[in-house]
Amino acid sequence: MSEAPTTRQEADFIVVANRLPVDLERLPDGTKRWKHSPGGLVSALAPFLRNQDGAWVGWPGVADADVEPFEEDGLLLHPVALSADEVRDYYEGFSNATLWPLYHDVVAPPVFERDWWQSYVRVNNRFADAVAKTAAPNATVWIQDYQLQLAPAMLRERRPDLRIGFFLHIPFPPTELFMQLPWRTEIVRGLLGADLVGFHRPGGAQNFLWLARRLAGLEPSRGTVGVRTRPGLVQVGDRTVRVGAFPISIDASGLDAISRKKETINRAAEIRRELGNPPKILLGVDRLDYTKGIDLRLRALQELLAEGRVDPGEVAMVQLATPSRERVEHYQRMRDDIERVVSRINGEFARVGRPVVHYLHQSVDRSELAAFYLAADVMVVTPLRDGMNLVCKEYVACRHDLGGSLLLSEFAGAAAELTSAFLVNPHDLEGVKNSLVEALSIDPAVGRRRMRALRRQVLTHDVDRWAKSFLDALRSEPTPQ
Ligand code: ADP
Ligand code: G6P
Repeated sequence: MSEAPTTRQEADFIVVANRLPVDLERLPDGTKRWKHSPGGLVSALAPFLRNQDGAWVGWPGVADADVEPFEEDGLLLHPVALSADEVRDYYEGFSNATLWPLYHDVVAPPVFERDWWQSYVRVNNRFADAVAKTAAPNATVWIQDYQLQLAPAMLRERRPDLRIGFFLHIPFPPTELFMQLPWRTEIVRGLLGADLVGFHRPGGAQNFLWLARRLAGLEPSRGTVGVRTRPGLVQVGDRTVRVGAFPISIDASGLDAISRKKETINRAAEIRRELGNPPKILLGVDRLDYTKGIDLRLRALQELLAEGRVDPGEVAMVQLATPSRERVEHYQRMRDDIERVVSRINGEFARVGRPVVHYLHQSVDRSELAAFYLAADVMVVTPLRDGMNLVCKEYVACRHDLGGSLLLSEFAGAAAELTSAFLVNPHDLEGVKNSLVEALSIDPAVGRRRMRALRRQVLTHDVDRWAKSFLDALRSEPTPQ
């Protein structure tokens, strides 16, 4: 990555997201380095964008970082600075303690603070300013996610010549929950500044269309929105805004290739040895977030061990948890809970040198992650609510050997596509336990059949297809319904 100022001034294609694909890290000795940013948005978009000639506008991940635009892998990165107060109020506050829990079925109570809202407005304006300066005439701008829902309208005011798309990476909530938000009308109007508003699921699009009628007094179309087809239409003045469903995916062939490498296969065997060659390995991979249901999958395992339905000598569980939003209170509480359950399980069921749960509060690199996926007999993905969940798709993409089983929450967007997984209701602990036992003891031929069906879906619906379907729709003219 070079930090040299670039000569390219304006871009025809711009992605705008709260975070840049790389985070600035300040090391204790005062030096700085860039590392990959966490989360599914960056995992999905970064590989797609490497092949495009474009720019990415976003925050470099630390407060008060004054960084010049720079180029990485042919992509022009435009840092937007946030002060320490803005990190607290706009990012940790309004984005992650108001919108995040509200949009995830209020699995934690959202906090409504007027100061946080003011900061959210200010920062969205700053992003709109930065894009307005960077975009070439008639450029295409693709704004991402819940942190920037006001930016589409703010940008349109500054630059009516631009083609503006917006995609929400998290669930769009049921209308009754959205209506709790004191600034609900402003958010709906902010999103309507885009030419195309995209969600993972038709249900999210449908909810948004209802709100456009109720809160903005508009007359949206009434037809049913399809997946990648039949977007809803809303007439806003002389513009027609389209509202559609575009389920995101991963760089499936890239991961498939990594997982077929000899080094990855050897590393997977080595991981198994390092775990003491248990007959079965369970795996969880998540950002440490209270929506992911990490605690409840551990509780399911704990009960199965206590009831003697799972033998502690026969199973090892690995939980990789990327540190996330560590100053937000609910995240701190969740981390304490998880760590308590891990030590209870190990306290009760481990032997010296053989813990039952191996918990790493760390990120691992892509090839190490692929080796973990390849080593795992059962991948356990149990969010209480998740817009899509890419981890389950990554697991499937890595299982070229057709081994392994996927246990997946019905409340992940991916469940609509991965119907050959063991689908569970994460609120039903007995159901999760039964499915875990079933997945652990599956007949290998049946397992292979299920994995083949999962792979057919994931390998034919990759992130390039997602981006192309969104961008093709954005660049085309709306067809009257
Ligand atoms: P979210 O976007 O909410 O974090 P996703 O499942 O959609 O959830 O995406 C998470 C991304 O982060 C995936 O690409 C996954 O591989 C990556 N990831 C999660 N935990 C880890 C970890 N401990 N180490 C490395 N990558 C991780
Ligand atoms: C999810 C969100 C992204 C976010 C990522 C990581 O994927 O949809 O917008 O970037 O989590 O969270 P963070 O708060 O660290 O950016």
